[in-house]
Amino acid sequence: MKKRIILMTLLGLVSYKVGAQTKKSASLKQAYAKDFYIGTALNLQHIHDKDKKGINIIKKDFSSIVAENCMKSMFLQPVEGQFFFDDADKFVAFGQQNNMFTIGHTLVWHSQAPDWFFVDKDGKNVSADVLKQRMKNHIQTVVSRYKGKIKGWDVVNEAIMEDGSYRKSKFYEILGEEFIPLAFQWAHEADPDAELYYNDYNEWHSGKVQQITKMIKDFKSRGIRIDGIGMQAHVGLDYPSIEEYEKAIVAYANAGVKVSVTELEISALPSPHRISSNVADTQAYEKQLNPYNNGILPADVEAAWEKRYLDFFSLFLKHKDKVERVTLWGVTDGDSWKNDFPIVGRTDYPLLFDRKYKEKPIVKKLIHLAKEN
Ligand code: G3I
Repeated sequence: MKKRIILMTLLGLVSYKVGAQTKKSASLKQAYAKDFYIGTALNLQHIHDKDKKGINIIKKDFSSIVAENCMKSMFLQPVEGQFFFDDADKFVAFGQQNNMFTIGHTLVWHSQAPDWFFVDKDGKNVSADVLKQRMKNHIQTVVSRYKGKIKGWDVVNEAIMEDGSYRKSKFYEILGEEFIPLAFQWAHEADPDAELYYNDYNEWHSGKVQQITKMIKDFKSRGIRIDGIGMQAHVGLDYPSIEEYEKAIVAYANAGVKVSVTELEISALPSPHRISSNVADTQAYEKQLNPYNNGILPADVEAAWEKRYLDFFSLFLKHKDKVERVTLWGVTDGDSWKNDFPIVGRTDYPLLFDRKYKEKPIVKKLIHLAKEN
C-alpha cells in the first residue's frame, strides 16, 4: 500500500511537471510552425537589447522578424554615399543567431527617404538617369551586404493608390511606373536567392487589387522576379470585412505569388477615417476618440477585439497554402505606432502583449485555433 502511494505521488509529480512544461512551451511560433511563419517588427530598443522583456517574447513566440524603421533609406543612407549600417547589422545578426526568417523593410518607399535622393545641389529634381543610378546604388549596396541573411525584401512599398492609380511620388514623377520593375531587377541581381515582395496597405480595395495583379502578371511575362505580395493589415474592429480581405488574398495567389500579412495589428479604438495608413494624415487630438486611456478595455470591446483576431487568423489558416507569413507590427501595445496614428497621444490596444509585457488571453486562443486546424 505504502509503495503504491509513493508510486502515485511520483506519477503525479511527473505529470505535473510535463503539464507545466507543456504550458511553458506553448508558443505562437510552435503552434503555427506547420502553417506559416509568425513574425514581429523590432524597434531600436529590441535591436540594441535594451528591452529584455520584449526580446524574451520575440525569442519565444516569433519565427520571423522585420525592422520597423532602421532599414528605411533615410536611416541607411542619410547622406549620399554615406551608409549607416550599425542598427541594421545588429538586427540581421539577431535574426541569424535565433534562426529567424529575416525580412528587409524597405528598399524603395516615398516616405522616410532622405531629401537628397531626388534633387540636385540646386534643389531641382534630378534626371531619370541620376535617380536610376541612385536607386541602383542604394538597393545593391544594401541587398548585397545582407546576401543570404535577409530571406525576403519589401522591395517597393506603397506605390499604388486605392483607385489603382500610381502614387504621385518622386520616384513616379521622375521615372514613371517603370521604377517598380527596375527596383526588383536590381534587388534580384544583388541577391538572386532572396525573395522579393511588393508591400502596401489597404490592398483589399478593388482598384488596388486590379492594378497589383496586373503588375504581377506583367512582371511574370517579362521574366522579372516577384515572389510575394505583402498585405499590411493596419485594421480596425469593423474594417475591412473578412470577405474583402479574403478576396484579395485569393486574387494575389491566383496571379501566381505568395501572400504575406506583413503589418498586422487591430486597433481597438474608434477610427476618424478608414481610408489611409499614410502617416501624413494625422488629425487633431479629439478626446472622444481616446476613450480607454486608463489602460483597460471594457469587456465588450475586448471581446469584439478578440473575435476580430480569431476571424482574421481563421482566414489565414483557411488559406495557409497561400500565406507564407503573418507578421505583427510590434510586440506590446506600448510599442505600437497606433498610439500616435491617426491622432497623436491616444492609448490603443492593438497587439498581442499588454504594456506590462503580459501575454493577453488572445494568445492562448490563437494557439488553440492553430491546433484545431
Ligand atoms: O528617429 C527619430 C528620432 O531621431 C527622433 O528623436 C524621434 C522624435 O519623434 O523621431 C524618430 O523618428 C520616428 C521614427 O518612427 C523612428 O522611431 C518618426 O518620428 C516616426 O514618424 C516614425 O514612425 C514610423 C513610421 O513608419 C514612419 O513612416 C513608425 O514607427 C513605423 O511603425 C511606421 O511603419 C510603417 C511601415 O514602415 C510601412 N507601412 C505603414 C507603417 C505605419 O505607418
